[in-house]
Amino acid sequence: MGEEKVVVHIERSDPGADVRPHWDRFEVPYQQRHSVLTLLNYIYEYYDRTLSYRNYTCGRGICDSCRVNINGKVGKGCATPVPPGAELYLKPCSPHVIKDLATVLTGGPPEPAVLGVWRAEG
Ligand code: FES
Repeated sequence: MGEEKVVVHIERSDPGADVRPHWDRFEVPYQQRHSVLTLLNYIYEYYDRTLSYRNYTCGRGICDSCRVNINGKVGKGCATPVPPGAELYLKPCSPHVIKDLATVLTGGPPEPAVLGVWRAEG
């Protein structure tokens, strides 16, 4: 029996440099208790350090900073479990993209504080 995997497609863009978004595909080994957010952390750690997204502030479904469009529906990455064999399509949760899955938040903490937790190259 082969290793179980999760396939993740991520819509990527850098509005300052790209004409239009593109999709990247990652195959990630399944791990128990993976959430969409821990999956993004795994991809960042092991595959692509240029990936930008909002890493957790609370990690418990409270702050709403990890919002992302997951298979067509906006949800909290930290509170969305990932089953073995899943195929995910992740897009930014709003049209106000900073880079990749990191978007400008409204109604949340002040932006400079939030920007301290999103990951980007550099
Ligand atoms: S990190 Fe706070 S809701 Fe997900």
